[in-house]
Amino acid sequence: MTCWPALALATPLVLVAMLAGEAQAADAPRGAASCTGCHATSGSVKTAIPSLVDKSAPAIAGIMREYKSGARPATIMSRIARGLSDSEIDAIAEWIARGR
Ligand code: HEC
Repeated sequence: MTCWPALALATPLVLVAMLAGEAQAADAPRGAASCTGCHATSGSVKTAIPSLVDKSAPAIAGIMREYKSGARPATIMSRIARGLSDSEIDAIAEWIARGR
């Protein structure tokens, strides 16, 4: 019973946080939110996964199509690309190139 005041206070905060997350996700095309989980969107962040910061939308879309067809060897990206349609690849590439 002693938890109730804390719960009443926390619930609206959680809802606001969820709504803010939704708004951000709605901005991105389907499938795009995962990309930035692995790929850094800032040139100053160095990770083992290649950065997409210096790539144009046509370059990203072209590489994704090579991953999808298997023409370009990959550990992970071929599996991700196979789950995307051509129009989704174009929309995601545009979104990544635009968002920096
Ligand atoms: C689970 C982590 C992960 C996710 C999620 C991910 N990538 Fe990748 N990406 C990689 C890795 C690792 C490589 C290196 C190639 C490989 O081994 O698959 C790569 C390579 C790439 C490359 C080639 C970069 C270069 O310089 O050669 C592009 C373009 C790319 N990813 C785009 C995307 C896009 C677009 C998405 C979202 C749809 C995405 N990636 C999601 C891990 C990820």
